[in-house]
Amino acid sequence: AKYTIVDQDTCIACGACSGVAPDIYDHTDDGISYVTIDQNEGMVEVPAELHDDVEDAYEGCPSDSIKISDEPFHGNALKYS
Ligand code: F3S
Repeated sequence: AKYTIVDQDTCIACGACSGVAPDIYDHTDDGISYVTIDQNEGMVEVPAELHDDVEDAYEGCPSDSIKISDEPFHGNALKYS
């Protein structure tokens, strides 16, 4: 998956994603996650060396809020749901 975005409506601020992929995910003051490389727009390609980290975050999110795709999200986390 080249692109990732967080569905901030379903994120429960568990913090797991930034633990496994700290170069991609960070949290707002209230703990909600966002993608750092493009302000959670899902438009900037994830660097190849970070693909495994993003896959781990995707698999580890307890609320399935991490979205991944081979195509950009254009800011819509539910674009490919
Ligand atoms: Fe939220 Fe899932 Fe990360 S609940 S903090 S997007 S692991």
